[in-house]
Amino acid sequence: MNSKRKIPVAEPAIGKEELDFVNEAVTSGWVSSAGSFIGRFEKLFAEYCDAKYAFATTSGTSALHLALESLDITFGDEVIVPTFSFIATANAVSYTGAKPIFVDSENTTWNIAPELIEAAVSEKTKAIIPVHLYGHPAKMDAILQVASKYNLSVIEDAAEAHGALYKGRKVGNIGTMGCFSFYGNKTITTGEGGMIVTDNVEVADRLKLLRDHGMSSKHRYLHTVLGYNYRMTNLQAALGVAQLNKIESLLDAKNQIAVRYNKLLKTIPGINLPTDSEWAVRSTWLYTLTVDKDLFGKTRDELMVFLDSCGIDTRPAFPPMHMQPIYNTGQSLPIAEKLSETGISLPSSVNLLDSEIDRVAKAIKTFYERK
Ligand SMILES: Cc1ncc(COP(=O)(O)O)c(C=O)c1O
Repeated sequence: MNSKRKIPVAEPAIGKEELDFVNEAVTSGWVSSAGSFIGRFEKLFAEYCDAKYAFATTSGTSALHLALESLDITFGDEVIVPTFSFIATANAVSYTGAKPIFVDSENTTWNIAPELIEAAVSEKTKAIIPVHLYGHPAKMDAILQVASKYNLSVIEDAAEAHGALYKGRKVGNIGTMGCFSFYGNKTITTGEGGMIVTDNVEVADRLKLLRDHGMSSKHRYLHTVLGYNYRMTNLQAALGVAQLNKIESLLDAKNQIAVRYNKLLKTIPGINLPTDSEWAVRSTWLYTLTVDKDLFGKTRDELMVFLDSCGIDTRPAFPPMHMQPIYNTGQSLPIAEKLSETGISLPSSVNLLDSEIDRVAKAIKTFYERK
């Protein structure tokens, strides 16, 4: 690999097993949503998350939408979400006709601040969607406590957190159900794709029904409820099985990247490293830090422009959803606003070379030292 290539933020690790499995799926003729890889992927993923059931979907977004639909969430309902997330978290709520209610983040984990949730609960609230942002688990005990007080469902948005541990438990199956994404930049990928995991048999039956046009499992072409086509293809699942087979090494590689960045960047003033809580094991998705311009001397945006000129791709942290033009609630949610303004994701692909991490860290240091 050329060490002077433009370093991407996140590229997939596709190897021989992926190619062999996809080849097998294609040549089997089962290219749509029947075929042996689907069941295999779901079974393996359920096991991986210590869940009884897993349902593969077309994307993380459709997984969230289906999860909400399975709970009959609809017009007039409200769902509490952290404002600091990718837009899909709130959009999935809007697709059902319900209203997303935005809550501020914590400074440490960057996830929904549990102590602020209760004030956002109304008689219309039906569910909470905590997001394990950038792979760090949300404070599930406190979230589940509010949920149980008000009889709310909890859908974990684990799109960025495959394999992360909350108090020793895999995220995704701690609440009512959990949703994952397998988009190309995620820790494991199926190109596009998603998964819902749950232990709840009633939810599982609903998910199965709604994912396949609401078609009765006993009578073909009998549709009792309005459903969707959110089925994953066998080709995607083939990729997914191969990726899942090596998830531990992928997570390990990502963790090593974080360790190396932490070591190289920790002494640069104004660079605030991601915080790891002692009760959690982060699954580093994108290594994301914040820039304190008073100490660093330049803004996050200036740093992004500089790194781009050095052939290093980065991403800004997600804009808070309450400030997005489609939602624009007029709220002031200062922690999320600050994190969003100062957060930057550095190259985090599992294939990243140590020399490339060193190049990124050196560029940040050079920019800091430049007057
Ligand atoms: C937090 C979060 N939720 C949901 C999604 C949606 O996943 P997908 O892109 O697979 O639809 C993403 C994806 O990128 C995400 O980061």
